[in-house]
Amino acid sequence: MEVKLLSGALGAEIDGIDLKKVTSDNFKTINDLLLEHKVIFFRNQNITPEEQINLAKFFGPIEEHAYVKGREDYPQITRLIKGAEEKNQWGEGWHSDVSYNPEPTKAIILRSLKIPPVGGDTVFSNMELAWETLDEDIKKIVVDKKAEHFSLGAGFFLDKFKYFESNGNNPKEYSNKHPIVRTHPETENKILFVNWTYTKKIVGLEESESNEILNKIFDHQARLDLTCRFSWTENAVAIWDNRSVIHYAIADFYPERGMGYERVMDRIAVMGDRPF
Ligand code: SIN
Repeated sequence: MEVKLLSGALGAEIDGIDLKKVTSDNFKTINDLLLEHKVIFFRNQNITPEEQINLAKFFGPIEEHAYVKGREDYPQITRLIKGAEEKNQWGEGWHSDVSYNPEPTKAIILRSLKIPPVGGDTVFSNMELAWETLDEDIKKIVVDKKAEHFSLGAGFFLDKFKYFESNGNNPKEYSNKHPIVRTHPETENKILFVNWTYTKKIVGLEESESNEILNKIFDHQARLDLTCRFSWTENAVAIWDNRSVIHYAIADFYPERGMGYERVMDRIAVMGDRPF
């Protein structure tokens, strides 16, 4: 097995593991790699939907998305389609998947099916490192506080994107409050658990102070020295620990300038637990 680090902050590309053949024996290696690097990538993995589901189930039960319908043939898999004519892409903007749920997603297994010749990379940022390196005065203010995360409603997930369908579960926006500093349930490391897309207020602070501190934290989380960037190829698989990273799918597609490409991914989410 070969492990190639993507940056000094997080992320590793793994060679020498066949994701078609995940068993309880090699799953331990995969999970250890995930806990160490927080996001791991595998290229040239022409796995079937059943094999992707098999891999996901080793991490835990599969989660249905709050708003978006799964594939007709495999409802556990959400197909993310960005049409060649579309500028926007699902997942642009820093976020941790469904952080607005009472028990946000534990891990994501994302497999690439159709990748443009240029554009559509995904960037990840290490939220353990973000907590370690956060300004000490801000740390003191937020260490024991909670923040409120909002789902932004069905419109946010469906209206902007042509190829997504509602699962009819949640037409309305809802929110949940989580500790700003959560503890990783497996490593016990501290994690800065807010994100630009869904976190809208710090509980117990006036709106202006809450906005000021959140904006400072969001700037800090986006620092390039906390990140790694993955350039997709077809049949690649990314697995990320959604508890300890935030990510950003870059929508650098410009159909009107001849840079409009289709991008298709299959996503499986694994259920998480209540942050503490
Ligand atoms: C997501 O934000 O879940 C999608 C990431 C991607 O398509 O790169």
